[in-house]
Amino acid sequence: MSSDMIQGMTQGRPREVIRTESVTKTYNVGKPNEAFAVRSVSVSILENDFAVLKGPSGSGKTTLLSLIGCMARPTSGSITVEGKDVSHLPERFLTNIRRRIFGFIFQQFNLIQGMTVLQNVLIPLLPTDSNPADGLKKAEAILEDLDMLKRRDFPVNSLSGGEQQRVAIARALINDPAIILADEPTAHLDTALAADFMKIMHHLRDQGRTVVIASHDPVVFEDSRISQVVSMRDGRSLGIQRNV
Ligand SMILES: Nc1ncnc2c1ncn2[C@@H]1O[C@H](COP(=O)(O)OP(=O)(O)OP(=O)(O)O)[C@@H](O)[C@H]1O
Ligand SMILES: [Mg+2]
Repeated sequence: MSSDMIQGMTQGRPREVIRTESVTKTYNVGKPNEAFAVRSVSVSILENDFAVLKGPSGSGKTTLLSLIGCMARPTSGSITVEGKDVSHLPERFLTNIRRRIFGFIFQQFNLIQGMTVLQNVLIPLLPTDSNPADGLKKAEAILEDLDMLKRRDFPVNSLSGGEQQRVAIARALINDPAIILADEPTAHLDTALAADFMKIMHHLRDQGRTVVIASHDPVVFEDSRISQVVSMRDGRSLGIQRNV
């Protein structure tokens, strides 16, 4: 723990959990297809924030989300996660941070077809040495909370889109992450299901978690309870709006 973090805690200020400092990501550096996906973006995400990265297609939302979630490394600039500069950490450390701190909800859900709901939710525990009985209890409690326990033994390919997403959310929660990251989570949902998704995210935030979503859907970025909107265009942050 850094002295900044101790100071923040003792003064009752929310702790900063993510900080990007002039972060840049360029794909195919020096090649004809060079792409400046993220250009010098600085954001600060506080504990229990509900932040949305918004912008048109190609504006760099997914890339910035991947950088925040330690799935990609910056070309320049720095990224700090829970007070630790992760910009130059070797891959095995990044894997460990990803597993310990983040829960990812991917646009395509990335479920393993042919496996059941429960099996999919338990997947992130495979590389850990957690007790299988504890893992099972936890998975069932999370599924219950998402009203999906009734589907426990269903193959995921037999579920509706909204249900598949709940499995993806449950899987993201199995390691009890402090920070939830979601990329275009409402892209395959109708308006009612998108509103349900937002309700679930607010519920997770009420549990004390931090939520960061990349989205160009107004249902997400016009939600009145989100705390921060980062507007992206052509890889740059055009502005940051803080609601609380
Ligand atoms: N792996 C990659 N290799 C090369 N270029 C990439 C790669 N990923 C993204 N890009 C480019 O970087 C830019 C930003 O892409 P990114 O996917 O981050 O945008 P986005 O805002 O998430 O878009 P969308 O709304 O379509 O999901 C785009 O021009 C894209 O073509
Ligand atoms: Mg994207």
